[in-house]
Amino acid sequence: PMARLLNVAKKQRLHLIEDVAQAFGARAALSNGSSKCAGTIGDLGCFSFFPTKTLGGMGDGGLVATNRRESAEKIRLLRHHGESSQYRHEAIGLNSRLDEVQAAVLSVKLRYLDQWIEGRIERAHLYQKLFEETGLIGREIIGLPLSRGGRNHIFNYYVIRVARRDALRERLSQQGIQSAIYYPVPLHLQSCFASLGYHTGDFPASELVATQAVALPIYPELLPEQQQYVVEAIRKFYRR
Ligand SMILES: Cc1ncc(COP(=O)(O)O)c(C=O)c1O
Repeated sequence: PMARLLNVAKKQRLHLIEDVAQAFGARAALSNGSSKCAGTIGDLGCFSFFPTKTLGGMGDGGLVATNRRESAEKIRLLRHHGESSQYRHEAIGLNSRLDEVQAAVLSVKLRYLDQWIEGRIERAHLYQKLFEETGLIGREIIGLPLSRGGRNHIFNYYVIRVARRDALRERLSQQGIQSAIYYPVPLHLQSCFASLGYHTGDFPASELVATQAVALPIYPELLPEQQQYVVEAIRKFYRR
């Protein structure tokens, strides 16, 4: 898809801005057969250091990557109240500086990023294997996350699609298993976009997925026994 988006952007003379919040370290295939890291393909790559992210700080933070000098200057300006020199404001900007405490934490965590990503990928593969063994895929378990080998998915979250999602979550919670929904309300149904005039039924695929998606525990320290416990709980829920 990135190769196709690049083509469209080029043809229509659009800027391509990547949301890399959940894709730190993932790679995307390009049309010439090579691959590039998410965030380095379009004009701007926006990363999130929110604590739940693969490279999470102790609080909020983020980063924009770009090769364009002009964009870099504009972003530097905007992140600090649009200030071009001390107390001179060229644009209406934001308070979006990365504070030093976050920067210090993140620079230490950065050293471990590659091994954490490998840990996530390994755990996703184990989930895949365990779910395949349940015989529930294609029925109650409607879909597992797709990964075509390599590093095109780094599993910041492990989101599966299931039937009777809310009842399943309730059961998991009773067994001490945390789960989450990313995301319960599709963009076109958010109040902040009401002015665009979309209604329920306008994007049926997004609406359907919003009722089926559930994120299971995934992090580099998760133990195989814990993953077995999660999958077994799900198997039992559907096999009653
Ligand atoms: C895909 C995606 N984009 C953007 C964001 C927002 O990131 P931040 O809160 O750091 O601005 C998130 C985080 O929740 C996300 O998951």
